[in-house]
Amino acid sequence: MSEKKSVQDERAEKYCPEKIYYSDNHAEVYCYRKDTSTELIEKILSYLKEKVPEPLQTAADVGCGSGQSTVILAPYFKQVHGLDVSPAQIKQAEATRSLPNVSYAACPAEELPFSEGSVQLITAATSLHWFKVDLFLADVRRVLSNNGVLAVYGYMSMKPDFGDLEVEAQLGQLYDEYFEKLEPYHVSTSIQMMKNKYKDVNFPFEEVVRCPDVRCRFEGRLVDIVNYVSTFSGFQKFKLTDNKSAEECIGAFRKRLYEIGSSFKRSPEDTIVLYRDYQLILCRKTNA
Ligand SMILES: C[S@@+](CC[C@H](N)C(=O)[O-])C[C@H]1O[C@@H](n2cnc3c(N)ncnc32)[C@H](O)[C@@H]1O
Repeated sequence: MSEKKSVQDERAEKYCPEKIYYSDNHAEVYCYRKDTSTELIEKILSYLKEKVPEPLQTAADVGCGSGQSTVILAPYFKQVHGLDVSPAQIKQAEATRSLPNVSYAACPAEELPFSEGSVQLITAATSLHWFKVDLFLADVRRVLSNNGVLAVYGYMSMKPDFGDLEVEAQLGQLYDEYFEKLEPYHVSTSIQMMKNKYKDVNFPFEEVVRCPDVRCRFEGRLVDIVNYVSTFSGFQKFKLTDNKSAEECIGAFRKRLYEIGSSFKRSPEDTIVLYRDYQLILCRKTNA
């Protein structure tokens, strides 16, 4: 057991030296994050099914966190694998998002535990920017089946949909200010890659379709948004460095968000419509 642990640690050192999302505490907080929107998964599935016949067999979700992007695949595949370099995230996934056809394992994205051509869909949800991208993409090519699909997606913010453009601008500014305060604590190259919508990544596949800003709406509460921003790796590092200032920073975010909510007569616990704008990149491998 201890030998196994040290192998996991060695791999984490190699591929994820910052050890973000590695502590038990961060993994527990991470459970607050909402599952991927069904609408987005259906968009991915419809692209896959253009060339891969049903019944679908095997999918893998890489950088799965506590399983929010993994369980959502379960209804469509015989077997789904959730992989994450952080054993703490895997422990949470097993405890909170366990399903009969879903298995989880602590494993780096750069060494996928599958044989050649054996996986039909691989997803990387808000995670590609943490990987050694070239190594990951090369391994994805190895394990994908003919016409198999890699779906890379991510989002930066989760906002209430009050249907008011001026308020939307204010919420954008609120997030910008929050990100600015976290800047010294973020791994800037990774966050920049995500902010840049993965535009600088060269995906080595025969077909690549970029779908910017896929807006998905879902029910949630203002308090879910505050929980979400507390899961940011930069915020967790800020807390470890200067807990008081970090709490003040998120307190200011919370106060302004709730003020906006109250101008629409919504309390933090009311169920309202939230949305996320996903960046989605669909890649198909064809052997022909
Ligand atoms: C922002 S979280 C995304 C989690 C989940 N997919 C979601 O949609 O909420 C990024 C995850 O990538 C994992 N990660 C970072 N580097 C990794 C690597 N090299 N291999 C596998 N997972 C990695 C982290 O441990 C973390 O759980």
